[in-house]
Amino acid sequence: MMILSQSFTIPNGVTVKNRLFKSAMSETLAGPDHQPDERLFRLYRRWARGGTGIVVTGNVMIDSRALGEPGNVVVEDERHLAELIQWAEAGTEQQTHLWMQLNHPGRQSPRSLSDTPVAPSEVALKKQYRPFFSTPRALSIEEITAITDKFGRAAEIARKAGFTGVQIHAAHGYLISQFLSPLTNRRQDVYGGTLENRMRFLIDIYFRIREKVGPEFPVSVKLNISDFSEGGFSTDEARKVIKTLDKNGIDLIELSGGNYENPRMFDPSEKDVFFIDDAKQIQEEINAVLVITGGFRSTESMEKALACDHTKMVGLARPMVLYPDLPKKLLNKEIKDVQIPRLTTGLPFLDRKIGGLMGISYYEQQIRRLADGQDPLYCENGWKPLWNNLKIHGRTALSPRRFTS
Ligand SMILES: Cc1cc2nc3c(=O)[nH]c(=O)nc-3n(C[C@H](O)[C@H](O)[C@H](O)COP(=O)(O)O)c2cc1C
Repeated sequence: MMILSQSFTIPNGVTVKNRLFKSAMSETLAGPDHQPDERLFRLYRRWARGGTGIVVTGNVMIDSRALGEPGNVVVEDERHLAELIQWAEAGTEQQTHLWMQLNHPGRQSPRSLSDTPVAPSEVALKKQYRPFFSTPRALSIEEITAITDKFGRAAEIARKAGFTGVQIHAAHGYLISQFLSPLTNRRQDVYGGTLENRMRFLIDIYFRIREKVGPEFPVSVKLNISDFSEGGFSTDEARKVIKTLDKNGIDLIELSGGNYENPRMFDPSEKDVFFIDDAKQIQEEINAVLVITGGFRSTESMEKALACDHTKMVGLARPMVLYPDLPKKLLNKEIKDVQIPRLTTGLPFLDRKIGGLMGISYYEQQIRRLADGQDPLYCENGWKPLWNNLKIHGRTALSPRRFTS
């Protein structure tokens, strides 16, 4: 019997039907008031019916003044509770867990959406990103507390709506990740300086959420195993944060890496699973469930990582767009590996410049197709999705985000 198909119980007593974990992918499909609608219900129904143990939503913002992208869902209050309930019902069909990912972009909010984004300190992104992102202003202690409360409130609403867990997005260079990194956190108060201080924002958010949702509701964190930038948040520091979260009862930790300036979460140079070498032994040392995401493409690499206890579940993102029923197909042994396309403009010098932009546009386009009840299109022509995104989002479609190959 494949380990992939084995159910297991997370430390707080909740059972998950198998080892497949659909990682967060921003859908950018919210309605005009940032609410979920029929398209999101259809998309998540399809993923739930595809056989995944845990499905994590794309990042849901906790403050409508701080968006990462146009079309982000926002949960600040109960005004769209009815729609959230419908979303949760669709995504929890067939005993699927549906966890809402909660995020605040901090300085990674484009100019077209925020004139002056907020961050731990006034540190701008690197020069080449400045046409797209303004220099942020530093948050006051009162504002930090208000954001912490907003995370708690959003989690409380997610639970009320029927989501079966939440995930705090502390990876990929967004606000919490900015607090963790000494490169972006230059504060001299209790939120800056030592690692203990830099992780205080994350730990405060975790405690606030726990207080709102209780001990039995799964709470997870997506964390960078490293920013992979010199002087940034390191693997050593990540291990210490993981231990602290574990000691305080976190249920699951998903590992990724990188940020907009250094998008290692999509590392095209990696031949197989990303981050696995950095994550060795962590699962043995913690009670919480560890999930590694990035680069899993074959049953062989999945089973190997599970057998070695490098990860308890297999995190999958892009393959789940191209094969929304991938878990069923893997567990029924209908397929053993998946291929994802190498997008190209046909011009190598241009591919090097805008390859990432084509990638993100391509996956967003396929997510929209699934949401419209169509099947994804496997294609390697990078121009079409780029053009499509420009038509939908205008200039904002060109701002750097998670750049994927
Ligand atoms: C279109 C797209 C949107 C994404 N949005 C999110 C997001 O909202 N939150 C997040 O944590 N990661 C996001 N990611 C990153 C994925 O969760 C994952 O870490 C990454 O794609 C590597 O996994 P893969 O190799 O299985 O695709 C996104 C990836 C893609 C392709």
